[in-house]
Amino acid sequence: MSGRARELEHSGDVVRLVQITDTHLQGEANGKLLGMDTDRSLQAVLDLVRSEQPVIDLVLGTGDLSNHGERGAYERLLEYFAGLGSRHVWLPGNHDDRSVMLEVAGEKRLAGEIRLGGWQIMLLDSQLPGQVGGHLGNEELARLESGLAAGRAEGLHSLICLHHQPVPIGCTWLDQQKVDDAADFFRIVDASPAVKAVIWGHVHQQYERQRGAVRLMSTPSTCIQFRPGQRNFSLDDCAPGYRWLELHADGRVLSEVSRVRDVTFAVDLGSNGYL
Ligand SMILES: [Fe+2]
Repeated sequence: MSGRARELEHSGDVVRLVQITDTHLQGEANGKLLGMDTDRSLQAVLDLVRSEQPVIDLVLGTGDLSNHGERGAYERLLEYFAGLGSRHVWLPGNHDDRSVMLEVAGEKRLAGEIRLGGWQIMLLDSQLPGQVGGHLGNEELARLESGLAAGRAEGLHSLICLHHQPVPIGCTWLDQQKVDDAADFFRIVDASPAVKAVIWGHVHQQYERQRGAVRLMSTPSTCIQFRPGQRNFSLDDCAPGYRWLELHADGRVLSEVSRVRDVTFAVDLGSNGYL
């Protein structure tokens, strides 16, 4: 990800974010993933966002935005996000093609760091091309460490976003895919008291824990959901959703997940795989 911080204009005391993750759009509109139309489910989530979030300062798209790196998926995502009327930034997941994302979305939407309203948002690339599991690597970890130090020197609070989970979330099959250099990640986070929260996607389910003063949170996909607490791949029948976050000037983070209601989605619950 780009090492330069992108400064966004912001007024008011609270920074309002929306996290949209794991949209898994196919190359053609209304393509399906395990029986679910991922354009339709994303549009239902975006309708929910519009009805619940009158003010959004920034939308965070935290990876697996396409299902196989298809250009058409990113082009439609640009249109769908434009309908929210907010700025948005993207980071790659294991299903994405970073170079195609960059061509479609441009460098400013793949920024490695955003600053607004007394907050610093560090966007990390945990994708290891060709691998399902997450890896940050020396370059990304060094960028995190120097970015956090610079932010702290300027009195900023920090939020970290990435695709893969840095902690086990309790699903054996998914936890084999967690960030493999998470110990190095947390060595940096633990040394940075300005870090208030870490958020990710990948696990297609809600997870929330506190680690010292840092909130750890994952967010449901806008399409298929994985059942918590499982040893093997298992789909859940709960609805797609998103996460909102309020970043306050005193460092507090308020956040909740909201799921689509009153819409049913076809999904093949008997599937035993996901590629
Ligand atoms: Fe995903």
